[in-house]
Amino acid sequence: MKRRTPITQYCHERIRQLIKNPSLCIDATAGTGKDTVFLASLAGANGRVIAMDIQETAVEQTRNRLIKEHLSDRAEVVLDTHAHMDAYADEGSVSLIMFNLGYLPGGDHHLATKAETTIEALKKGLTLLCEGGMISLLIYSGGDSGFDEKEQVLQWLKELPDDQYTVLVEAFYNKPNHPPLPVYIIKNETV
Ligand SMILES: C[S@@+](CC[C@H](N)C(=O)[O-])C[C@H]1O[C@@H](n2cnc3c(N)ncnc32)[C@H](O)[C@@H]1O
Repeated sequence: MKRRTPITQYCHERIRQLIKNPSLCIDATAGTGKDTVFLASLAGANGRVIAMDIQETAVEQTRNRLIKEHLSDRAEVVLDTHAHMDAYADEGSVSLIMFNLGYLPGGDHHLATKAETTIEALKKGLTLLCEGGMISLLIYSGGDSGFDEKEQVLQWLKELPDDQYTVLVEAFYNKPNHPPLPVYIIKNETV
């Protein structure tokens, strides 16, 4: 039997390819802290990460993972909704923002991300990005996540002006059972 491509590993590799030397990064959905640790290592010793989640348990898991990986000095973990991300960074100052949508693995499925708040946060995220900066999204659907958030986010993405943003939607096309959809929004540079 051959090994299947691990989805989050693929997405981390893709982000590495698309964004070089990020400085300020935001993890908009900290969860278990795996993406926060990835961002903290990508940002390097001079970079900084702000990680957000609405659940105490996610904040705790993320802080503990950062401690274990000796990366706590690069990241601030806050208990707050990503809809408030503009309170933590200045416009045009952020290199990379990650959203891993859905619910906390092993947690309450009712506390999953929701279309309305996600889109509000994405709009704020776009104003925070520097030119050449990027928002990555991993959109889960099906099962308890349903399809509403995915459909609304994709519709909103479709309407972003292409002179300002490049939107890449990738797909694990032959994976069964509604695989998560990776999306990358790059803020175009002024010529
Ligand atoms: C799929 S998990 C994230 C996985 C995570 N990135 C990791 O590495 O483990 C989604 C997370 O989004 C969080 N979340 C839901 N709504 C949120 C909101 N409005 N603001 C910030 N986080 C939210 C959930 O609590 C959950 O922990």
